Amino acid sequence: MNIKKILSKKIHKSMVKIGIPEKYNVILRSCKKKELGHYQINGIISAAIHLKIKPNDLALKLVKNLNIKTIISKITISNLGYINLFINKHWLSNQINLLINSQKLGLTEKIISENIVIDYSSPNIAKEMHVGHLRSTIIGDCIVRILSFVGHNVIKSNHIGDWGTNFGILIAFLKLKNKKTNLLLSDIEKLYKQAQKKYVKDINFAKKARLYVVKLQKKDISCFKIWQKIVNITMNYNYQLYKKLNIKLTYHDTMGESIYNDMLSDLIIDLKKKGIAINNNGTVIIPIKGEKNIKGELMAVIIQKKDGAYLYATTDIACIKYRYEKFKANRIIYYVDSRQKQYLKQIFQIAKKAKYVPSNIKLEHHMFGMILNKNNKPFKTREGENIKLNDLITESVIRAKNIILKKNPSIKKEILEDLSFKIGIGAIKYADLSKNRINNYIFSWNKMLSLDGNTSLYIQYAYVRAISLLKKSNINLKNFLNSEINFINHYEVNLAISFLDFEEIIFKIVKKGTPHILCNWLYKITVLFTLFYENCNILNLKDHILKISRLKIVFLTSLFLKRGLYLLGIKTIKKI
Ligand code: ARG
Repeated sequence: MNIKKILSKKIHKSMVKIGIPEKYNVILRSCKKKELGHYQINGIISAAIHLKIKPNDLALKLVKNLNIKTIISKITISNLGYINLFINKHWLSNQINLLINSQKLGLTEKIISENIVIDYSSPNIAKEMHVGHLRSTIIGDCIVRILSFVGHNVIKSNHIGDWGTNFGILIAFLKLKNKKTNLLLSDIEKLYKQAQKKYVKDINFAKKARLYVVKLQKKDISCFKIWQKIVNITMNYNYQLYKKLNIKLTYHDTMGESIYNDMLSDLIIDLKKKGIAINNNGTVIIPIKGEKNIKGELMAVIIQKKDGAYLYATTDIACIKYRYEKFKANRIIYYVDSRQKQYLKQIFQIAKKAKYVPSNIKLEHHMFGMILNKNNKPFKTREGENIKLNDLITESVIRAKNIILKKNPSIKKEILEDLSFKIGIGAIKYADLSKNRINNYIFSWNKMLSLDGNTSLYIQYAYVRAISLLKKSNINLKNFLNSEINFINHYEVNLAISFLDFEEIIFKIVKKGTPHILCNWLYKITVLFTLFYENCNILNLKDHILKISRLKIVFLTSLFLKRGLYLLGIKTIKKI
């Protein structure tokens, strides 16, 4: 149930009836100052000026034709024509009961289920995942959860970088050093760095490396085996990391660059035949109309090098075609950082021009900014290296542990382990998800692990309070599912009204892929719950109806916090 949508429809009907033209933006908003009203209708003044009527008269007319008695109990109009609406408590009580009984927490909007491919995480092979992979991994995962929750068919796609010249270099080096492949990922990463240095310096080695690329492309058994080992070692490591981070990706979701290799030669032929790709000094390029680089030259995407090798772009074009054909994708979303903005735009253009996807298929780049340190520089180690994701997690868990130990020094060891894990991981994820993904953000351990403010710990803590209240009450709310809720103060009403925004929030995220909206809403619920909790007696009430009413609000809070955190990929805790 989307309350704003329901009310807006009714307002619109009334507007039409009294002759306010569509172009006037008469809209419904939540009131910031709840004592003035729960909702507000804005935009009357400009409509009145144009219609040459007093704002107050126009507002009166609009209100007279508003058919919202069941939802709204009181309407006030200010001299300037602002219309304030107060919710009908009886209606609110019914809604709260419906929410408590609803499987999907009141999500009632019917959707046409789409096949949506989400390209996320997508690390490169032979390297440990680092901080640079965090945003794609956790934002992508949150969107997977939300799109599935509303009923879409989501295809997770981990587009790992498991193909290309780099593998020739690495295989050549491993052969040269006669390294067996029972190596750790950290060894491989070191060897890979050495190999790259040698590739630049040593012409003979470079030649060999290129030879191995060709061999690998032809699936030469010995090369192929080494390649497979390297991929397996990397991905075994990564899937452990995903598990730690509570990320839904599994082995089935690996769809790396290598799987498109066999499509590429036909793709080049086809693109040439369609007049989209052309030969250019031995390379094959796709000129991009209307786009120029900084020097003012026309831009082109290279899809085949002089030596016949294909590129990242060639694979991505094939990949779009594959995703459309294999999964019947209606929508493909890429969680990739903003540096690839122009690149992805070009790839999308090419795929559409070549008719690999029909024009109505949505190709979306949901880009994100960088993680910075407090000096506004990229967040790296002191030595200027990328921070490994595993090290980041370890540090967060240790910090969480210290915070818990300070509060509760005699806590049992297993409980401490479990709690610090859930709190530590939750903090990293929430700190990221709560920022608008478009922007860069500054990483701060102190802020993200704080008990106050917009943090996961603050929300997790509120959840603990809510469920312990329910437990202490020893009342089975199931026996009171349809009993009227008695609202006697604004703490109860304000919290209850906020629950009604859930559907609106979720569908905004479905459209735009912006988890911070959910974080802000959860934070709001938590603040309102804390106020309610601190100002309203709950367990020591003699008035049984009021007690049940308040417990229902607590129960619903716990459901929303749990579901909200789940959708963010964050675990709740039961104790602290
Ligand atoms: N592996 C790439 C990188 O680390 C990201 C891949 C994003 N997905 C894609 N289809 N290009 O930059």
